[in-house]
Amino acid sequence: MTSKRTVMVLAAAALLVGTALGTTSSQNTARHRGRGQGLLQNAHAEVDGLALTPPMGWYPWNMFGEEPQNEALIMEIAGALVASGMKDAGYAYVGPDEGICFSRGKDGRLAPNLERYPSGLRGLGDHIHRRGLKYALYTDAGTKTCSGAMPGTKGYEFEDMRSFAEWRADYVKIDWCNSQGQDIVDAYSILGKAQRAAARPVVHSLCSWGEGYPWTWAGAIGHMWRTTADICGPGKADWARALRIAFANEKLAEFAAPGRWNDPDMMIVGMPGMTEAQNRSLFSLWCIMASPLIAGNDLRGMNASTAGILTNLEAIAVDQDPLGVQGRVVWNDGNVSLWAGKPLFDGSLAVLVLYQGRYRAEKKIYWEELGLEAADELYVRDLWKHETSGPHAGSITVSVGPDDVAFLRLSKKPDFPVPPIVVADTYLVSLRSTGTRPAKLFGTVTAANKGSADLPPWRVDPRSLPPWLSVEITGSGRTQTFVNTVSTAGLKKGAYHAVVRADNVEPVSGKRMTALYYDIDLEVPRTVKR
Ligand code: GLA
Repeated sequence: MTSKRTVMVLAAAALLVGTALGTTSSQNTARHRGRGQGLLQNAHAEVDGLALTPPMGWYPWNMFGEEPQNEALIMEIAGALVASGMKDAGYAYVGPDEGICFSRGKDGRLAPNLERYPSGLRGLGDHIHRRGLKYALYTDAGTKTCSGAMPGTKGYEFEDMRSFAEWRADYVKIDWCNSQGQDIVDAYSILGKAQRAAARPVVHSLCSWGEGYPWTWAGAIGHMWRTTADICGPGKADWARALRIAFANEKLAEFAAPGRWNDPDMMIVGMPGMTEAQNRSLFSLWCIMASPLIAGNDLRGMNASTAGILTNLEAIAVDQDPLGVQGRVVWNDGNVSLWAGKPLFDGSLAVLVLYQGRYRAEKKIYWEELGLEAADELYVRDLWKHETSGPHAGSITVSVGPDDVAFLRLSKKPDFPVPPIVVADTYLVSLRSTGTRPAKLFGTVTAANKGSADLPPWRVDPRSLPPWLSVEITGSGRTQTFVNTVSTAGLKKGAYHAVVRADNVEPVSGKRMTALYYDIDLEVPRTVKR
């Protein structure tokens, strides 16, 4: 650990302690309202349609730190995302974090570290896209990344965002190390402009550990922002620290909305040192807080309990709810806390009881403390036991073990639908023309909804496509296929590329869904006649 990293970690820890010791988020917010308010009205995601529900994926830092990150690890994890069922549960973004991926060449441009990433950073991205996953990369807004081993973007914002676009990144995490003397809003705003200039839709993940109160302004620039210090050091899960983070993050609930999320850091579910109850609790807390669900454990050979927790669609349904409301603590006696305030798309409510004491506890939840009528007759779904009971009038009592949770959904109806969780077979279509006679080439992308409802047909705006490409949607409801047709007539020799954007609406709430993007590559080895 370099001395710069120590300074950064201490600064971040001070922030966390500051929150815990009573510098409340509302005080912080009040001090920073003037600067942020205007910006908040223009959420960046309204334009690109990205991250309208919290991003889901995997990142290496919590488990691996810098050292073992390389292409083989990332490819193995991509395979494990598919094999474990996590991809089918909605996890998509994967890639190196501080993985010593690139250096800056004499020409000022980023050069991939081919020793660690022999396929190159574009090659790694193509591999990930072909598996139906999305590609995540990492950088820093200062002069260097936290380890000091990679260059930061300071002074090279536009060049670097172009490199990330050329490598086909879909998600870029931007850290805040080695940024002494920089104004945080200006620094991240330039990066936002640079990303837009690079013209690739990218989930922007700001990582200033809460410094600069990003929840008041970062929604105009990116899609998510870290609210606290790191949840753990590499390989060392820390349950007590994770809980402090959860309680700091919940205070910021009012700032979360579709396309702009509070990020309490990558998860520590399944890391050594965590019990099954703690894994379940951490996952449930992240879900009720509508947090990005970025797993941080080693997915290769994870046990069935961890895989079951990470892929519990009933819990993920709460996180991925289209209304995008962040739940918060509504009652807390120091041992037992009640988390609510999260209405869901079908009119149901998510409710969580966390128990931090030593023995089993019972908690009676009154409908009135959830803002409901005492006389309401409600069905209660236990999201871990997968059981529905009721209807119950007025209240329900739950029994919770140490470090565990009861995670519930309450509804006037006995069914508990899962909102859209869209999974594609690939995000890259590669086509190649042969000969010089005009021909039509086809390539498909199939998108399946793992949620309960049939979706309306996806919509692709034909005006957004290049003249050589047309897209038709076949199939209906849960599984739809994008048939991409390339007409080669008159194309000159060369490499062609298009990004296809598709939009849709969640049918129950009428809310816009996260836009679906994929890449099309067309290689024309010989000029084609008209
Ligand atoms: C910071 C971030 C971590 C991780 C490391 C990499 O500490 O908060 O999530 O990206 O940098 O050095």
